[in-house]
Amino acid sequence: TRTINLAVVAGDGIGIEVVEQGLKVLEAAVAGSDVAVAPTSYDLGAQRWHATGDTLTDADLEAIRTHDAILLGAIGDPSVPSGVLERGLLLKLRFALDHYVNLRPGKLYPGVTSPLANPGEIDFVVVREGTEGPYVGNGGSIRTGTPHEVANEVSVNTAFGVERVVRDAFARAQARPRQHLTLVHKHNVLVHAGHLWRRTVEAVNADFPDVTTDYLHVDAATIFLTTNPSRFDVIVTDNLFGDILTDQAAAITGGIGLAASANINPDRTAPSMFEPVHGSAPDIAGQGKADPTATVLSVAMMLAHLGYDAESAAVEAAVAADLAERGDRVRSTAEVGTELAARVRG
Ligand code: IPM
Ligand code: MN
Repeated sequence: TRTINLAVVAGDGIGIEVVEQGLKVLEAAVAGSDVAVAPTSYDLGAQRWHATGDTLTDADLEAIRTHDAILLGAIGDPSVPSGVLERGLLLKLRFALDHYVNLRPGKLYPGVTSPLANPGEIDFVVVREGTEGPYVGNGGSIRTGTPHEVANEVSVNTAFGVERVVRDAFARAQARPRQHLTLVHKHNVLVHAGHLWRRTVEAVNADFPDVTTDYLHVDAATIFLTTNPSRFDVIVTDNLFGDILTDQAAAITGGIGLAASANINPDRTAPSMFEPVHGSAPDIAGQGKADPTATVLSVAMMLAHLGYDAESAAVEAAVAADLAERGDRVRSTAEVGTELAARVRG
């Protein structure tokens, strides 16, 4: 028997509800095979912080590090000051475990309604850098709260960090039928970081001669995501631009209820982490209304990352079949999970 030692960080709000369904579908995907799932839950998030003041201790981190993968629900709660859990837990995990490839597919499945009048075929993937950029916390404020306040957030872009994510994006583009890579940045304004990214794409392209490339400023990229999303195959971009573009990508492909993501450590020096793009949605938490589909698709990404390609394909196929038929049917979180699990079992 092969065992998936899974760290489960359900977190806050609807994270708890959607992760339960993700695990249900994961169990269904491995049922009857020689693969077993051994989940360990970590009590992290708002409740833990209120009770102990901890966000993610060194002991938590070292324990999580021993797993094969992490399934995460959502982090954040209005009762906790903004940034405490985001920085102290979610970003700390991404940084400490070197999740430098934040992979976010933008795919419009048949049967799903896009808000675009003419969406065309949408099937791209955003490779969002996950460990650098403005997210590193290299900033500060002086004369805080006065009319003379100066608040800085410095975007950190290292040659090492940019090259490794660009290389990963090229490899993904090479493996896809269209073999196209779009760099998104803003090098007309952010000249230092922008030119590092541009030079890096140009240099790494030599090792992937089959891949064609183009470049868009981030503002123009938002236009094309609305007017002609079919033009995109693989997008590589920095941490903050990637955050913004992937919410737009979710919106045009049926909403954040469907948007999956993988925080990947391609060198496998630490477990990768799989999570829906959406947040904890405190407004609907506890009501059984959240759509667990994004989490289930994140489980499919996890299975693929761990080498369980058939199981991953079965989960994605179950979701695709459900999406093709779901229409406006209203189901609870658990009903969607149960029906997806039944489809996976076949
Ligand atoms: C996301 C979220 C996070 C991010 C927040 C909660 C820190 O928006 O996963 O996209 O900005 O990366
Ligand atoms: Mn986001």
